[in-house]
Amino acid sequence: MCGIVGYIGSREACPILIEGLRRLEYRGYDSAGVAVMNGGTTRIVRCEGKLDRLAALVQREPPPGALGIGHTRWATHGRPSDENAHPHKFGRVAVVHNGIIENYLELRERLIAQGHAFTSETDTEIVAHLVHAALTAGAAPLAAVQAALQQLRGVYALCLVIDGVTDRFYCAKKEVPLILGFGDDEHFAAADIPAIIQHTRRIAALEDGDIAEVRRDGITIRDADAREVQRPIREVQWSAAMAEKEGYKDFMLKEIYEQPRAVADTLRGRVTPGMGAVHLDGLLTGGAPWRRVFLVACGTAFHACLVGKFLIEQLARIPVETDLASEFRYRDPLIGPGDLFIAVSQSGETADTRAALLEAKQKGAVVWAVTNVVDSSIARLADAALYTYAGPEIGVASTKAFTTQLVVLHLLALALAERREALPAASIATEIATLVALPHQMQTVLQRAPQCQAVAQALVQSDEWLFLGRGLNYPIALEGALKLKEISYAHAEGYPAGEMKHGPIALVDDAMQVVGIVPQGPYYDKVISNLEQIRARGGALTAIATEGDAAICRLATQVITIPAAVPRVQPALTVLPLQLLAYYVADGRGLNVDQPRNLAKSVTVE
Ligand code: M6R
Repeated sequence: MCGIVGYIGSREACPILIEGLRRLEYRGYDSAGVAVMNGGTTRIVRCEGKLDRLAALVQREPPPGALGIGHTRWATHGRPSDENAHPHKFGRVAVVHNGIIENYLELRERLIAQGHAFTSETDTEIVAHLVHAALTAGAAPLAAVQAALQQLRGVYALCLVIDGVTDRFYCAKKEVPLILGFGDDEHFAAADIPAIIQHTRRIAALEDGDIAEVRRDGITIRDADAREVQRPIREVQWSAAMAEKEGYKDFMLKEIYEQPRAVADTLRGRVTPGMGAVHLDGLLTGGAPWRRVFLVACGTAFHACLVGKFLIEQLARIPVETDLASEFRYRDPLIGPGDLFIAVSQSGETADTRAALLEAKQKGAVVWAVTNVVDSSIARLADAALYTYAGPEIGVASTKAFTTQLVVLHLLALALAERREALPAASIATEIATLVALPHQMQTVLQRAPQCQAVAQALVQSDEWLFLGRGLNYPIALEGALKLKEISYAHAEGYPAGEMKHGPIALVDDAMQVVGIVPQGPYYDKVISNLEQIRARGGALTAIATEGDAAICRLATQVITIPAAVPRVQPALTVLPLQLLAYYVADGRGLNVDQPRNLAKSVTVE
């Protein structure tokens, strides 16, 4: 969703803001702007479109000053336009915002009746009006910000600058992430770490209800009750280079190739080859007393949950329910004490997943998070967090977050099995050895990239795709379809192969591209029969199969192979050719792979 950067220090603010916004481009946006303070007055430059347009505008007439705020907007209220781009200024107050002000229409009508004129269709502009009104009524700047926030309903991360207040800017947060960066004689605010990582690694996250005054020489934070508070500052381990493309054409491609490293990092310290024990970050020391596990997430993370269900049920023999967070939160779920709820989220900020976790917590379940972002909202709300160590995922299409989620859920299944004595130590040791071998096997699959590219080139114009799999590879069929549709805009569906004959087979003709995920394993013969039925109806078939499978070559036009692997780790291998296929189809269509239309990396609104 929207990107925010704020800066105060001794350097020119504008280049820092624009550069920071560039590093947040992955979040998706349709317009951008900056407000920079000079001599007590803020100048705003903003426009519809990409950052290059904004950069050209500021280059023509750079706004000087060492205090400023910047924004990339992903439209919610009002179409993408120059007028709706942030920052919004009214009177002395300029504001940028991520989130939704739910009662803005009611507030707007009241202010219009008092003579205020609005210049945008956004919900955000109301904030500038409210702060300005409080200032005009005689409030001091901080009190004016507090008074305005008290009138808002909704969720927000906000940064504000006030004309005449030259030594600070203001930040506020409610249910949408906002971080602060601590430099030497300069301080920052941002929607996400990559925006400021090249300037400082010392980061603190604001809590809900916090208001911060960010000055050149320090930051003062007050909580919802206006008490001065300290929020822990931590040293981020990411390097600036990790948030760069490092020679790859797109972040997505780089992130696909990072997966063996990301999986190795996620395993590190949690398992030891040859040992039958899993160290789950100090969790599960008191056993595993739960009667049920709930795995809840959105999008790609939900597909990881579907695989996780297989793993936990097979290995630990605990019943697992999976649900989409947007459904779970509203269905009055039967969950309570004795249940373990796990929210899976790369960003740790997804609004639906966050709300689902709060629902489970409120009903008395123990709530955990599996997330990639330390200190994210979901990590902080959970009783415990299990981190994936994928590093920053910038491409909107999730890749390395997914495979590391699979690994964490696999480790969790093993740890639960161990604590419940559902598996002998020797079997756990064998399973651990399989996981330890995974990065190398992933590397082998990634060497098939030229084949995936050739298949993509042959099929680049195809607009109808079906992805089929069974068992642990059914979620991978869903994931393959999601990857393709979100970045190439082709219509793609994932289906359990055995379900084809109950309806979808009617769609199959020679225009339909079918991708069968058919590695050796318990479902092999069944999937082959399903694919025979497709072939008999003229469907063109691409297969993801195990090396050395001669039979599949007679059935499929194109085959991409994975090394022989036990079924439980196959999803982390079979998904790789599908990620590459989606990437190369989208790239072959000349599309913006990292920022697909209409999508945002982190979906922080409902
Ligand atoms: O940050 P999260 O894992 O909570 O995000 C969930 C989904 O929004 C995300 O996986 C989305 O489906 C991706 N664009 C898929 O590639």
